[in-house]
Amino acid sequence: IKKMTDLDLAGKRVLIREDLNVPVKDGKVSSDARIRASLPTIKAAKDAGAKVMLMSHLGRPEEGVYDEASSMKPVAEHLTGLLGQEVRLIKDYLNGVEVADGEVVLFENVRFNKGEKKDNEELSKQYAALCDIYVMDAFGTAHRAQASTHGVARFAPEACAGPLLAAELDALGKALDNPAKPVVAIVGGSKVSTKLDVLNALEKVCDQIIVGGGIANTFLAAAGHPVGKSLCEHDLIDTAKDIASRVEIPLPVDVVVAPEFAETAPATTKNIDEVSEGDMILDVGPETAGQFAELLKNAKTILWNGPVGVFEFDQFGNGTKSLADAIAESDAFSLAGGGDTVAAVDKYGVADKISYISTGGGAFLEFVEGKTLPAVAVLEERGA
Ligand code: 3PG
Repeated sequence: IKKMTDLDLAGKRVLIREDLNVPVKDGKVSSDARIRASLPTIKAAKDAGAKVMLMSHLGRPEEGVYDEASSMKPVAEHLTGLLGQEVRLIKDYLNGVEVADGEVVLFENVRFNKGEKKDNEELSKQYAALCDIYVMDAFGTAHRAQASTHGVARFAPEACAGPLLAAELDALGKALDNPAKPVVAIVGGSKVSTKLDVLNALEKVCDQIIVGGGIANTFLAAAGHPVGKSLCEHDLIDTAKDIASRVEIPLPVDVVVAPEFAETAPATTKNIDEVSEGDMILDVGPETAGQFAELLKNAKTILWNGPVGVFEFDQFGNGTKSLADAIAESDAFSLAGGGDTVAAVDKYGVADKISYISTGGGAFLEFVEGKTLPAVAVLEERGA
């Protein structure tokens, strides 16, 4: 794949697809991790003297209409602050825009354009005609074959990967292709069914997979332990048994239970075989957390996706906090990705101690599953 860093950008019209799909509250960006992650790319293009045009989607608005609630305006304002230079928001851009050398402009939400999500060829050509160089830097949207992530790369005079996309691919490659051993993955979340492909792919590279949340309950039930009224996919018990026969899945020896799923629910720690009919398992217990921490201590590569408890409620967050601390203390190459995981990383203040935090949610999972990311594949097709 050609990289942005290999190209001379001076005076060129450079169109950069970022993933600036960030949460917005009351007209302001409420979490700017993705914007900050894109900043080095934007600065590098600007400092090289390019005419920088940024584009991204925000949310899932109805196509073909302008909808203020999904406007990129808060993002343009936030970027202006971070860059220390005005970032103009441009609403009508498909027929051409005037941008000065070293200027940075942001296009309005690409999902307002009809044909964006269908990867429409006409629209892709319109994007392509705006630039001399197209830079794909939106790892978080690389699993989408859409006009701004895929089609445009076919028609732009030059197409390359931006530094953020390249860094994400490097970090994921480091964890999944020939990783330093032992490799320990943490796969949390509510359902085995949504993480089945992830588990199947990880069993091939991991020495152990720590499962958490509802996923762990299905594995506990498969091993014959009582799970009370916990979230558990009984129809996947045989599948869980199969996975556990191929890769080591250390199971909790104690858990934190409550009579209901609620912010104020009282937490009780129980031995795994003391879980009763009316219990819901909402976290792992301290002994389990200690055992998992020990496993992580010996790991050389750690891949973290998903919490092991309902960490949004403090009384069920200790298991996830222990794991976060263990990862932070470890010398292993550690990679964290997926929406909830990044929220946990932030909550427990360990962001600086993790080797790489992915900006991808769905894209991160699809990469781990071994799927081809269409936005990366099209760059590969165009060659180095
Ligand atoms: C994400 O937040 O996962 C990406 O920005 C992709 O968004 P989408 O699922 O709406 O395509």
